[in-house]
Amino acid sequence: MFAFAFALAFHTLAAVIWVGGMFFAHLALRPAVAALPPAERLALWRRVLPRFFAWVWASIAVLLASGYGVLLLGYRGGLGGGGIHIDIMQATGSLMMVLFAYLFFAPWQAFKRAMAASELAEAIGALARIRLIVTINLALGLFTAAIGSTGALWAY
Ligand code: HEM
Repeated sequence: MFAFAFALAFHTLAAVIWVGGMFFAHLALRPAVAALPPAERLALWRRVLPRFFAWVWASIAVLLASGYGVLLLGYRGGLGGGGIHIDIMQATGSLMMVLFAYLFFAPWQAFKRAMAASELAEAIGALARIRLIVTINLALGLFTAAIGSTGALWAY
């Protein structure tokens, strides 16, 4: 069905944007800026992260709408009848979203407050918490994307 192809194309693009963005931030940008003086490094993340986080919120909205959209329309047996790879994707995907929401509303807000007050030690602590969550979400995201795209080939 054309609607399924269309929705799952957006689903894949949203996953690529979110997971690819985390991969770039964690494995390319972070080591590259590690040598900068702390004040400059923190100021850079203060400018980079809000732009990326806006794309993450958009990706989450698209992943949920397209993922549950196709299931509600009966794709692969619908909400209850789908394969186990879809259940796994929902579990790990939901965990990623909860972790991101926590990151955004707790350490990210603390980081912004610390930066506004020029409390560098606080900001470094908040950024370390953000980094930990991004590390977990990157691993979950790579796993989820692999399961989502190949799950039907493993199990059936
Ligand atoms: C949490 C709610 C989610 C739902 C309900 C959902 C649902 C689905 C469904 C129904 C498919 C099609 C599977 C198939 O054809 O066998 C799919 C594919 C896929 N999903 Fe998800 N998904 C969710 C979250 C995620 C997340 C968080 C990611 C990655 C970060 C992701 C990545 C993918 C990828 C890469 C595919 C392969 C594209 C395709 O086969 O068309 N999904 N998802």
